Amino acid sequence: MTTPVVETTNLRKTYLLGKVPVNALRGVNLKVERGDFLAILGPSGSGKSTLLNMIGALDKPTEGKVFIEGVDVSKLNDNELADLRRRIGFVFQFFNLIPRFSARENVELTMSITGLGKDQRRKRAEELLETVGLKERVNHKSAELSGGERQRVAIARALANNPKFLLMDEPTGNIDSKTAKEIIELVKRLSEEKGVTIIVVTHDQHIASQTKRTVQMLDGLIIQERVN
Ligand SMILES: Nc1ncnc2c1ncn2[C@@H]1O[C@H](COP(=O)(O)OP(=O)(O)O)[C@@H](O)[C@H]1O
Ligand SMILES: [Mg+2]
Repeated sequence: MTTPVVETTNLRKTYLLGKVPVNALRGVNLKVERGDFLAILGPSGSGKSTLLNMIGALDKPTEGKVFIEGVDVSKLNDNELADLRRRIGFVFQFFNLIPRFSARENVELTMSITGLGKDQRRKRAEELLETVGLKERVNHKSAELSGGERQRVAIARALANNPKFLLMDEPTGNIDSKTAKEIIELVKRLSEEKGVTIIVVTHDQHIASQTKRTVQMLDGLIIQERVN
């Protein structure tokens, strides 16, 4: 058995809303192997984003553990956590690009602390933008790009630091359905051709039908798992 890329054990998260506890995760056990392509489904409020934030080491669980490539995330110091986060590719519903920067600059920026020289960063950014189908848009400011194009830039940026895996939280939640299909084709291609490990939270049944595996969440628990 190889070590899973991601493993959560009895993961619990309780938020306090004022004095009222909200049990966002109530004991989630999940394993994601290298090369897996997993969709997390479930109604609004079921804990999907909370789970993604724990897996991405953006927030700490109340109980239970997250292991990334076998490493217990709770044992890491702040520097190690920062290093880990840089090796996780995040893609969100809202693209979080810098509007006045070009597509290329947005991708280069994430590589600024990797030790790559300026020319290498530029070359890599251009290659990644070509991979996501934006060869002709490299020098466009992100403010000038369409929603689908911005999401492609966000995906290129997420890939920039050779991530251990991609975490996507409703990546097509903010774009029209035709463009969403194109984004899904791209994500599927990254999985199939490049072997990228991908966890995607989605409401979209079409996305879920394209992944290798789906888990269904409800009220902070995984209630169903399916291999497609
Ligand atoms: N920062 C927070 N403070 C308090 N409650 C939160 C916070 N984040 C999420 N919640 C609550 O936790 C539950 C799960 O939320 P979330 O993980 O965002 O679900 P989903 O992504 O499936 O819509 C919801 O009841 C939500 O209101
Ligand atoms: Mg959410």
